[in-house]
Amino acid sequence: MTYEETNIQAIIERRGYRSNIKGDKFSLYISNYPSNAKYLKSRIGNPKLVLAELCCSIGITLEYLAPGFKKVIGVDIDNKILEACKTNLKEAGVFYKTELIQGDVYSDNILKEIEADIVIYDIPYWYPHTQENKGDLVTKNPPLKDLIRKIKEYITPNIVIFSPPEWSYEYFKNELENIEFEKVFINQKHNRNQVYLGDLIIEEGITEIILND
Ligand SMILES: C[S@@+](CC[C@H](N)C(=O)[O-])C[C@H]1O[C@@H](n2cnc3c(N)ncnc32)[C@H](O)[C@@H]1O
Repeated sequence: MTYEETNIQAIIERRGYRSNIKGDKFSLYISNYPSNAKYLKSRIGNPKLVLAELCCSIGITLEYLAPGFKKVIGVDIDNKILEACKTNLKEAGVFYKTELIQGDVYSDNILKEIEADIVIYDIPYWYPHTQENKGDLVTKNPPLKDLIRKIKEYITPNIVIFSPPEWSYEYFKNELENIEFEKVFINQKHNRNQVYLGDLIIEEGITEIILND
């Protein structure tokens, strides 16, 4: 089913989100699958560490990862979306260990505000953004290499990047050098790629994970 054909209820049911999850169709559609967020928690979770997610949206990834960390930080530019994120994290019982920051993740001052051991960066470049005329948010993406250099300098070298499935291994390898490029398949569909940097690399090169929701 395409983005245009689907509706909020169908997304909630298909992905297995809580029935009272807050978010508009766009935010729900672009959000992570619970199965992938749970997998990530098992792979990178550590109760001694702090995790920050850049472009956290309504907090689906944070909701599932928070139980595996000492603290989580979510950053998003959109205040309305952050309000939904706050409600979702409260409902999930993890808001007490959450800090939410409203701001542009491409601003040096925002990056310098974040103190975390691991950063997830969800690249805001996804087909529904165009359908919803959210192109103004995505056309400003800085060159990946520059942003990752700043995250390493100001925050941590241990980074996970979520990328649309179309973005190639060669592109990331060329921009970032040592990487693990994990292709994520959910219900037999290539859903996204997860690029691991620093200590989060288990095996350099292309790897695969197959999940079902
Ligand atoms: C990339 S997705 C997030 C999906 C979410 N991380 C998840 O895993 O469920 C879109 C989000 O990026 C945010 N965004 C886009 N550009 C941004 C920017 N420059 N700074 C901060 N947030 C931004 C949007 O407001 C939107 O909520």
